[in-house]
Amino acid sequence: MVTRVIPVDPFDLVIFGGTGDLAKRKILPGLYRRYLSGQMPVEAQIIGAARGELDDEGFRALVTESIETFVAKSEQDPEAIKSFVEHCSYIKVDAKGTGGWKELASKVRQNVVQAYYFSVAPSLFGDLAKGLQANGMAGDNARIVVEKPFGRDLATAKELNSVLVDVFDEHQIYRIDHYLGKETVQNLMAVRFGNVLFEPLWNSQYVDHIQVTVAETVGVGGRGSYYDKSGAMRDMVQNHLMQLLCLIAMEPPSKFDPDAVRDEKLKVIRALDPVAADDIVRGQYRSDGDQPSYLEEVDDPQSKTESFLALKIGVSNWRWNGTPFYLRTGKKMSARMSEIVVVFKDPPHSIFGEEAGSTHNVLTIRLQPDEGMNLSVTIKEPGPGGMRLIEVPLDMSFAEALGTDASDMPDAYERLIMDVIRGNQTLFMRGDEVEAAWMWTDPIINGWDRRGDKPSPYKQNSSGPEESLMLLHRDGRRWRDIDT
Ligand code: BG6
Repeated sequence: MVTRVIPVDPFDLVIFGGTGDLAKRKILPGLYRRYLSGQMPVEAQIIGAARGELDDEGFRALVTESIETFVAKSEQDPEAIKSFVEHCSYIKVDAKGTGGWKELASKVRQNVVQAYYFSVAPSLFGDLAKGLQANGMAGDNARIVVEKPFGRDLATAKELNSVLVDVFDEHQIYRIDHYLGKETVQNLMAVRFGNVLFEPLWNSQYVDHIQVTVAETVGVGGRGSYYDKSGAMRDMVQNHLMQLLCLIAMEPPSKFDPDAVRDEKLKVIRALDPVAADDIVRGQYRSDGDQPSYLEEVDDPQSKTESFLALKIGVSNWRWNGTPFYLRTGKKMSARMSEIVVVFKDPPHSIFGEEAGSTHNVLTIRLQPDEGMNLSVTIKEPGPGGMRLIEVPLDMSFAEALGTDASDMPDAYERLIMDVIRGNQTLFMRGDEVEAAWMWTDPIINGWDRRGDKPSPYKQNSSGPEESLMLLHRDGRRWRDIDT
């Protein structure tokens, strides 16, 4: 299948923190891939801006290296890389001072889209916004892109929002949650609202419960000092898993338009119940042979930060009242796997009698790896043994069905950066949405801090602490296996 590529308008993209980790891993390789697909206009400029001493040549060498390291070999075309880096230049800018700003202002063109990517610590957001304003770069064509963490609680998120809206209008602010850029996450909306099949059943009358799992095999590694101040709640649940929950639970928006979608997501967040202490399971991975424990990795034997979190969440509205959402995420789990599982209720009456067995439909949406969907349906077990029911999968790998390789799918960052250039905010979080998410998260974190709860140690390469299994067992349910 050939993917349709619609070129975007000419733009200038300034990456503050242009020599940092995110720029090297995601932003620059993503831009190169868009260039390769023909989506980047020839007039585009990519300007790296950071504190370090570097000239254009030095930056181009860094861009080349990041492409060679983070883009698949099959997509590394030396000629294309050479012409791509021609679009790249570098300016040393002092976010807190005056150095470099004038030079930047003279380089950025006023008559094209200007995107400013704040790939820096949130403590610098205010300085950057003010610097752009003071130097005439915060006009109507400007938009800013900010990364998570967007605050560490409601108060700090509000502070950040107010710093940004002092200079920019909400429609110029793009708060990134890269999960919204994942192909299958958007497919969730297509599946729900592009088919008549699911929507009538998408409610507590037919859905028994929903599971969302985002399991990672990596540990906190070199990110210990950041992670230990965040934990799974702030790092993953308040943003990524929350966004998934919203897309599953929201009412159909009247159209696929930024505010219509975001209004519906906001209503879901506001309908989330407070979470009781016994509906929370927190874990920390222990050491395993030569693999260090979480406590060793963050170098704090007293740390009470969770590297695993499971929650049972209620959504108090007409659609979902009575259908629990179970969310879990963790580091050092047995497999890298993200999926949403919608478990439907049993049929109201079995005409086949107890001996036929009972089954139910399960819709599984795999976000990664091997993006796809699976619907289990009930059929008769083949053979002469009478009427026995079994579940069989109607399995669809998107890559197989569409004749593409997973690596053909644009990475989340590629898509989101192009949406910024196009001026489409549908897949970005609005300020009130982020604040509402913290409003729900804060009491949960404050609760475990106040109680002094310690996370339960769990084995590496596992599905987390025992208590997480119990969270479902006590309700007569079970998690899907992480390795499948
Ligand atoms: C980031 C978190 O936002 O998402 C990381 O800070 C996490 O801790 C990562 O590893 C997971 O993203 P992905 O796309 O690999 O699932």
